[in-house]
Amino acid sequence: MRKPVIISFGGGKGGVGKSTMTSNIGALLAQNKHSIGFIDADLGGANLHLCLGVKRPRYNLQDYLSGRVNNLSDIIEKTIVENSWLISGASDILELANPYFSQKQKIINNIKKLDVDYILVDLGAGSSSNVTDFFAAFSNGVIILDGLPTSIENAYGFLKNGIIRGITRLFPGRKDLKSHFQKFSDPHKEDGFATVTEMLGFLNHHYPEETHTIREWLRNRKTFLILNMVKYKEDISVAKKFTAIVKKYLNVNLQFLGYLINEPEVRRSMREMKPLVISNPPKKALECFIAITENLKTLTNGQSNVL
Ligand SMILES: Nc1ncnc2c1ncn2[C@@H]1O[C@H](COP(=O)(O)OP(=O)(O)OP(=O)(O)O)[C@@H](O)[C@H]1O
Ligand SMILES: [Mg+2]
Repeated sequence: MRKPVIISFGGGKGGVGKSTMTSNIGALLAQNKHSIGFIDADLGGANLHLCLGVKRPRYNLQDYLSGRVNNLSDIIEKTIVENSWLISGASDILELANPYFSQKQKIINNIKKLDVDYILVDLGAGSSSNVTDFFAAFSNGVIILDGLPTSIENAYGFLKNGIIRGITRLFPGRKDLKSHFQKFSDPHKEDGFATVTEMLGFLNHHYPEETHTIREWLRNRKTFLILNMVKYKEDISVAKKFTAIVKKYLNVNLQFLGYLINEPEVRRSMREMKPLVISNPPKKALECFIAITENLKTLTNGQSNVL
């Protein structure tokens, strides 16, 4: 059985194009003869199905968590994209909006066992643990910015929380370590850490083995960047600025996958519930999607990225 390459799509800010990217990149990968699994991990306001031609999903993750079905593979359904399937989130089921970590872990562990080439995970908006736990669980994560400075702030908070959640989960029950990680989440505290490097330097003195584990976890991650809704050449400076901030404070080397121009046809395709790349795309937008997808394919390298 093959191990899938799993890639999450997030960014903190709502409406930056997470679902647009997930559905269109998936459609292009499927055109390249890869099998694709789409997962809508937005547990409060799932709507990826609407980008993939599925009007009303028959099942969603709630059916799985409640035990109505036994396997994650029992709730997959076909999409309008050939050679692909979808596992839908839950649109308005409040009981799912705050699942226990064990429930998320059950979903995460079983996603990693699905037999498919690529799994693309569409994350919800925001930086809460319900979103960042999924981001931290998979070693390939794409961050999407919409070209506005506000998206930098949201994406930074998202990535930082993702790192803190990820390293916290490496050491369940270790309150001592957790309290140090929290000093990084709140650097304004008197003994707070301003950067990941600072935190790791401190930890290395007191917990060398655990610090090694954290460094390995960080090293195994690949974080990518896409700039969406580009109107002017200068918009690219937002991506550059974000990359520099993330390097300085989080010690993460972001890999830039490319940009998508602002293109009204994206909305049209969404209304038609079809990814733009399979519904008569304008040339320039298609070129953008192809460049992003090719870069993503090369940089994830087709290898297993299961942690
Ligand atoms: N490059 C683009 N040009 C024009 N419109 C776009 C572009 N990308 C996305 N949009 C539009 O912006 C809106 C938000 O996109 P999308 O739903 O993909 O964002 P999202 O990040 O998934 O949102 P949410 O946080 O609500 O899940 C949609 O109406 C979509 O059609
Ligand atoms: Mg979305």
